[in-house]
Amino acid sequence: MRVPDNCLMRTFVYSSHQQRIVFGAGTVDRVRAEVELLGGTRVLLLAGPRAGDLAGRVADVLGPLMSGRFDGAAMHTPVDVTEQALAILQEYGTDCLVAVGGGSTVGLSKALALRTDLPQVVLPTTYAGSEVTPVLGETADGRKVTRRSPAVLPETVVYDVELTTGLPVDISLTSAINALAHAVEALYSPDANPVTDRLALDAISGIAQALPRVVADPSTLEPRADLLQAAWLAGTCLGTVRMGLHHKLAHLLGGSFGLPHAETHTVLLPHTMAYNAAAAPDIFNKIASALGVPDAPTGVFDLVAGLGGPTSLRVLGVAEGDLPKAAELAVAQPVPNPRELSEDGIRTLLADAWHGRSPHRTQPSAADRLTQDVVASFGSTPDPRTKHLLTGLVEHLHRFVVEHDLTDAEWRYAIDFLTRTGQKCDDTRQEFILLSDTLGVSSMVDLLTNSRTQGTTPSAVLGPFYVDGPPVCEQGADIANGLAGTPLWVDVRVTDQHDVPVPQAVVDVWQSNSDGFYDVQLPDLDGPVLRARFATDDDGRLRFWTIVPAAYPIPEDGPVGEMLKAVGRHPFRAPHVHFMIGAPGHTHLVTQLFLAGGDYLDSDTVFGVKPELVVDFTSQDGAPPDGRQVDEWSLLNYTFRIAR
Ligand code: BEZ
Ligand code: FE
Repeated sequence: MRVPDNCLMRTFVYSSHQQRIVFGAGTVDRVRAEVELLGGTRVLLLAGPRAGDLAGRVADVLGPLMSGRFDGAAMHTPVDVTEQALAILQEYGTDCLVAVGGGSTVGLSKALALRTDLPQVVLPTTYAGSEVTPVLGETADGRKVTRRSPAVLPETVVYDVELTTGLPVDISLTSAINALAHAVEALYSPDANPVTDRLALDAISGIAQALPRVVADPSTLEPRADLLQAAWLAGTCLGTVRMGLHHKLAHLLGGSFGLPHAETHTVLLPHTMAYNAAAAPDIFNKIASALGVPDAPTGVFDLVAGLGGPTSLRVLGVAEGDLPKAAELAVAQPVPNPRELSEDGIRTLLADAWHGRSPHRTQPSAADRLTQDVVASFGSTPDPRTKHLLTGLVEHLHRFVVEHDLTDAEWRYAIDFLTRTGQKCDDTRQEFILLSDTLGVSSMVDLLTNSRTQGTTPSAVLGPFYVDGPPVCEQGADIANGLAGTPLWVDVRVTDQHDVPVPQAVVDVWQSNSDGFYDVQLPDLDGPVLRARFATDDDGRLRFWTIVPAAYPIPEDGPVGEMLKAVGRHPFRAPHVHFMIGAPGHTHLVTQLFLAGGDYLDSDTVFGVKPELVVDFTSQDGAPPDGRQVDEWSLLNYTFRIAR
């Protein structure tokens, strides 16, 4: 079965990675057991130059399993450093890698695993998340090359919160924003799926809540644990779905311009978010709520600036003259991204990031601007109500088009449909009213109108078959003019809402014949029938003969019938008689009385039935009130209340 085009279900592919995660405080003590679990007997311990004490602690735990140590891990995983480590690894006959440190050390471990297929146990000390991704970014000859391979994914990750408490506040901050970037880009990745969506939003709110607490109190375990856990979730997103413009720019500036990794992420993130926000408004609204801010890009900028983090590429050492080159490189190899990568746009983004400006609040999209332009064109409409209605109409129409992603063919069909609706109209056929009725618009207008006057008879739609100036008839007349059908004696009163009779009220009445046709639909008929204009007597009373109405289909031979067929709806109206009542000093009432027990009362095709208008048209046994000779007849009693 094909998924219909209008179905909002999304299609996705989700691949999870097999990895063992050990999380807690003091979990470093388990490293030896974890190595043994992987069958390791001769470990090469990898660390960065700053990891001294931590590496020593890991070495102690490893004890006799330690066969060597390499402390030279460097940022962006330069290939020459990897080759040095590889030589040592081979020299020691290493059968397992253990890495303790940040992204650089983890990167080195992965680069070695790629070349040797050795198992890895990784103890991250930052929030970069590389330990849970099958991605390796290596730098050679000033260019960073990223590859994705299951061979680089560490077998075991030991998160020990105690290893992170010594991470300096500035690195904690930039590293956490690096993690935030993974979660942000996961949400608009073409590979996004329900699992990464959940992980990413939890990561974003976790980071937003924990980071300020870590900065305020860096050595306390609890905020550190919250931040590390959020970073793990964010890293898992990074490892599962493809990233967009942000990661591309950060890697490009890091690899080609030698900028520090986490700081670059931190400076860029608010600006790459601002670049994309208008192209994925729903996602950015979710990010904003997860962050607890009204606008996601400025929220991230304010978070970083408020915690004293870096906000400018200039401060990171980028030369302003290098920005055009960076923009050119950024668009050279496209990445999946919600907004198309334009060199101009990225140059502006980089200029903002270079100067350290707060990103503008989410720019309106081209669609928003178009709506604004049209609304602005009504700016000098003299009548305020006209202006208000036109503005609302355009806003709703535009939103409808955008939200439903209306195609050109659909738009053309709609125009053709409306054109044919207009062409179907003439003096006796009003297809537009029929359209309004069958879409419930007439009943909606009627509902609003009626709800404004309490204690009065509800109104109902006028319908397309009213003819102004019907034949004036005397009380007691028979408007059926001898047509077949059960005679109906109508005996109604018109009062105000306090039961005071309304004399001389003008009452127009119209209905269909027993075949379901109005006189205007029967061109061979000689003059009006089943329609009349009466006046109430001094007691507000009106009596006349007609016939019991039957259900009838609304005209189906036009565009409205086409629509009803397309949606599988029947065209029938519940049996009814129309009344239009006017009296000086009183509100005008247009309504219908429906035959209790009649067909289609609960599925009237124009949504016109209201319970108060459903009336017993009681079948009578006795002689009719005016001595008329009939075999059977029915009686309709009703009191119309119109507001004074
Ligand atoms: C009618 O009752 O006459 C009517 C109302 C709406 C649409 C078609 C017919
Ligand atoms: Fe009708």
